Amino acid sequence: MDHDIHAFLESALVLIKQVGEIVRENISKEKTVDLKESRVDFVTETDKEVEGILINGLKSIYPNHRFIGEESTNESNKVKLTEDPTWIIDPVDGTMNFVHSNPCVGISVGLYINKEPKLGIVYLPVFDYLFTAIENEGAFLNGNKIQVSQVKAFSDALIFIEGGSSRDPEKVQCMVDNFRTVLNEAHGFRSSGSAVYNITMVAKGAADCYIEFGCHAWDMAAGATIIKEAGGVIMDPSGQPFDLMSRRLICASSEELAKEICSKIKQNYPKRDDA
Ligand code: IPD
Repeated sequence: MDHDIHAFLESALVLIKQVGEIVRENISKEKTVDLKESRVDFVTETDKEVEGILINGLKSIYPNHRFIGEESTNESNKVKLTEDPTWIIDPVDGTMNFVHSNPCVGISVGLYINKEPKLGIVYLPVFDYLFTAIENEGAFLNGNKIQVSQVKAFSDALIFIEGGSSRDPEKVQCMVDNFRTVLNEAHGFRSSGSAVYNITMVAKGAADCYIEFGCHAWDMAAGATIIKEAGGVIMDPSGQPFDLMSRRLICASSEELAKEICSKIKQNYPKRDDA
């Protein structure tokens, strides 16, 4: 079946601009915060409101499509990726930042068809940065084509690495070891607190690599199309092919750089999103 991906993009953009306004309006206000899986894993009323608008809006246009949303996923509604067109949504990526009124927050909408990434939209509303990509058509920031950097060596790279929201001692130890490796080997490292901010910065050549264990499908789905279309790579941190459900990610400006970093970092295997 043929799908009109350009029409999908246009429909999603109308909604994303609407919810971008909501995030911008609320970022400096006081928030009602609930805890999720750990003492540093949050959800706010804005996360829920934005996800509701995006899913209900897209569902009304595409009733046969499927949806995976961060805030509607739980033990009784688990993540299940099928061959059907599936919108994978993070309403506010960087909720910790949002709670602290830090501007590194993004709205992330990815579309998978036949379990492959076809369309990615990331909007960083406070910066008014809109990243879009359709498979085989390039990646764009506010309508201008973007490209990853030329950096190929770990020693020359600016790396995003995140601690994530798990405080499991084994995971924490792995991250401490990896932070040390990156600090010793790379040009520099950064943690923005938003997976989609990190991926899009690598896509636009403002950083060279991003690595994380513990992010979710909704943190990576839109970025998967954007990074590939910007000329970069996305893979499993073991060097194997990327698996959206694995909660493991490395994306980089080149395969050479990603593989060098993969060979030097310690591995961690969080519980899969589809387990
Ligand atoms: C989180 C952020 C954070 C990353 C976590 C994500 P959320 O997303 O992207 O940077 O380290 O793994 O879960 O919960 O703010 O949408």
